[in-house]
Amino acid sequence: MSFPHQRPRRLRRSEPIRSLVRETKLGRTGLIYPMFVCPGTRVRNEVSSMPGCFQQSVDMLVEECREVEQLGLPGVILFGLPDQKDATGSEASSATGSVQRAIEAIRRAKLNLLVITDVCLCEYTDHGHCGVVENEQVLNDATLDLLADAALSHARAGADVVAPSDMMDGRVGAIRERLDANGFAEVAILSYAAKYCSGFYGPFREAAQSAPQFGDRRSYQMDPANAREALREVALDLEEGADIVMVKPALPYLDVIRMVRDNFPVPVAAYNVSGEYAMVKAAARNGWLEEKRVVLEILTGIQRAGADIILTYHAKDAARWLAS
Ligand code: PBG
Repeated sequence: MSFPHQRPRRLRRSEPIRSLVRETKLGRTGLIYPMFVCPGTRVRNEVSSMPGCFQQSVDMLVEECREVEQLGLPGVILFGLPDQKDATGSEASSATGSVQRAIEAIRRAKLNLLVITDVCLCEYTDHGHCGVVENEQVLNDATLDLLADAALSHARAGADVVAPSDMMDGRVGAIRERLDANGFAEVAILSYAAKYCSGFYGPFREAAQSAPQFGDRRSYQMDPANAREALREVALDLEEGADIVMVKPALPYLDVIRMVRDNFPVPVAAYNVSGEYAMVKAAARNGWLEEKRVVLEILTGIQRAGADIILTYHAKDAARWLAS
């Protein structure tokens, strides 16, 4: 029996009935807010390509974290800017680095927030690559130790979750081993398992001052054309001990999010990255898109594709809109 007996519009007649049959219910509890921490005090510089996002010193960052907590968001992910960059990104694992001090300050403030940290070298190396470089090649195995050092320093400072984003082979295993050997078996790993070599990271590289000084990241980040390879990356990270796996970026890779969700019984995260945010902000500023409406549509779409957790620069706005 089809039309006129079947009338899908019956379930769209009013908001109460639409709400009753809604399949995807976006909530604040799955949103993580990314933040950039820099040296100094009283520093709060807006990132020009990411309106509403700031590079800020620890004191200012903690104030914004209070707001994040009050908005009912579960946590933040921290990215650090160093005082000094060098060939091996040594400040990435400094006990007095920006990220490490920020974690301690958030802990001291007793905020009810999960603290996730990005583990990578690109913000800390003078060449801007995510690993050690020799003859313009990014070395895999020589990088693993340094990533494990960084992750351990975050755990020591009080991080709940460490999130390696470098795409070196074997880094999840190296980090898991290092954490366990030092008494941090309870610290979880959120791996950027399927991280694509994307043009959508442009604004982030301004925010984190992490653009590669030569070449690009194609020899370690994934080719945008590949989906099956993402399943292989996820499987490897899970074998090595990842607790949560992430697909990044989100919007051009909704199919990958769905495949990961359907193939593995673990929580799936998606990173709605800086370029995705910048496009919405730019169009909204020009009056070309209605910001609230498209942001909620985008986040709903990412969740509908299968993401349990969404890292997004829209998190604070979305939390306000979802509360009202
Ligand atoms: C570091 C890192 C990047 C992002 C997260 N971690 C940049 C990159 O790989 O170039 C991008 C986040 C964003 O664009 O919002 N490796």
